Amino acid sequence: MKKIVIGITGSIAIYKTCDLISLLKKKNYDIEVIMTEHATKFINPLTFGSLIHKPILVDDFDDTGYQIKHINIVKDASCFIIVPASANIIAKIAHGLGDDALTSAFLAATCPKIIAPAMNVHMYENTATQKNIEICKSYDIHFVEPIDGPMACGYSGKGHIANLDDIVECIDYMTSSHPLKGKHILISAGPTLESIDPVRFISNHSSGKMGYALAKAARNLGGHVTLISGPVSLKIPYGVDFISIESAQDMYEAVKEFMDFQDYIIMAAAVGDYCPATYSETKIKKSDSHMFLDLQKNPDILSYIGQHKTKQTVCGFAMETDHVLENAQNKFSNKNCDLLVVNDLFEEGAGFKGDTNKVALITKHFVEYLDLMSKDDLSYRIIEKLMKIKGE
Ligand SMILES: Cc1cc2nc3c(=O)[nH]c(=O)nc-3n(C[C@H](O)[C@H](O)[C@H](O)COP(=O)(O)O)c2cc1C
Repeated sequence: MKKIVIGITGSIAIYKTCDLISLLKKKNYDIEVIMTEHATKFINPLTFGSLIHKPILVDDFDDTGYQIKHINIVKDASCFIIVPASANIIAKIAHGLGDDALTSAFLAATCPKIIAPAMNVHMYENTATQKNIEICKSYDIHFVEPIDGPMACGYSGKGHIANLDDIVECIDYMTSSHPLKGKHILISAGPTLESIDPVRFISNHSSGKMGYALAKAARNLGGHVTLISGPVSLKIPYGVDFISIESAQDMYEAVKEFMDFQDYIIMAAAVGDYCPATYSETKIKKSDSHMFLDLQKNPDILSYIGQHKTKQTVCGFAMETDHVLENAQNKFSNKNCDLLVVNDLFEEGAGFKGDTNKVALITKHFVEYLDLMSKDDLSYRIIEKLMKIKGE
């Protein structure tokens, strides 16, 4: 279990930290909480104590126990995050103050540190606050930027606490080891959408879950991730370069633009093989009987990558419904990729929409059958395999 220390300060956004703790508990983090005196005026420590089933550190100087609390609490921590962070705490950290339990513990911590500010837009934009943020960044403190939005004070603007999922993902990243640091990874995800007219399109059932899980895993491992995604209803992963596309042709153009400087390319998208040969600018009227659609082939993106790769280690995906291994092995040899992940649509727990997958990994000399597992766990297995193939 990884230990994280959460520092909480006197901001109206404090109630969000209750939900954040629930999200982090689901991910099995061992959580410690330190509150400032002002934070306790917004929410009683009892609330946070009940959520984490531990005492909350507020006063370093009370006489319970003989341990030096601000030192002890950060021992073995994988990450220290202050959320919400007031303008006041950012100023104190920028100038090295240690005048309460939270600031003293933050000074004593040697683990990766994150600050998630939340404040009124003018407090955030104030030159002093901005300078203090820059100073903190120069100490290698990572900021999860606040977002634009309406505030409790009635103003609207930048200063609203970041999306909680982004904060969780940032913690996942900061608590991971980064063997892919300095490496570029291009990942495609989701379906493509081929328009027939302004109203209709041809697409497929891909949810994008596999590609997005791969993007998060590659980011957690320290890689610089570029995610090219067709239309899906998933949240854009935190900390990745995101390129939104619609058609296979769009994806092809994006891949051509970005592939040269990549170290790894993982094509998890379900790219449509065909698109309408002509696009009607106006809605095609319903006819009395049949309608015939003339289709033409889309560019074969994986083949293009296979033919033009230089230093890139390339992973393709295959979704089959029959003669699974035979079809996948043919695809592997035709496309010149280094790894092919094959799933059988009719296999229980495998395929498009769910959170699990059951695949076989095809490489030049081996076929490795993996057990059913979550798409998150599978992403790490696939990336580990690719790193092994590359010799990293
Ligand atoms: C109702 C109320 C809401 C506040 N909300 C914020 C806020 O969202 N962000 C902020 O930086 N300060 C906010 N403040 C001001 C801080 O609470 C104040 O600067 C305090 O000294 C911060 O103390 P701390 O950093 O030790 O917790 C608020 C104050 C009040 C009374």
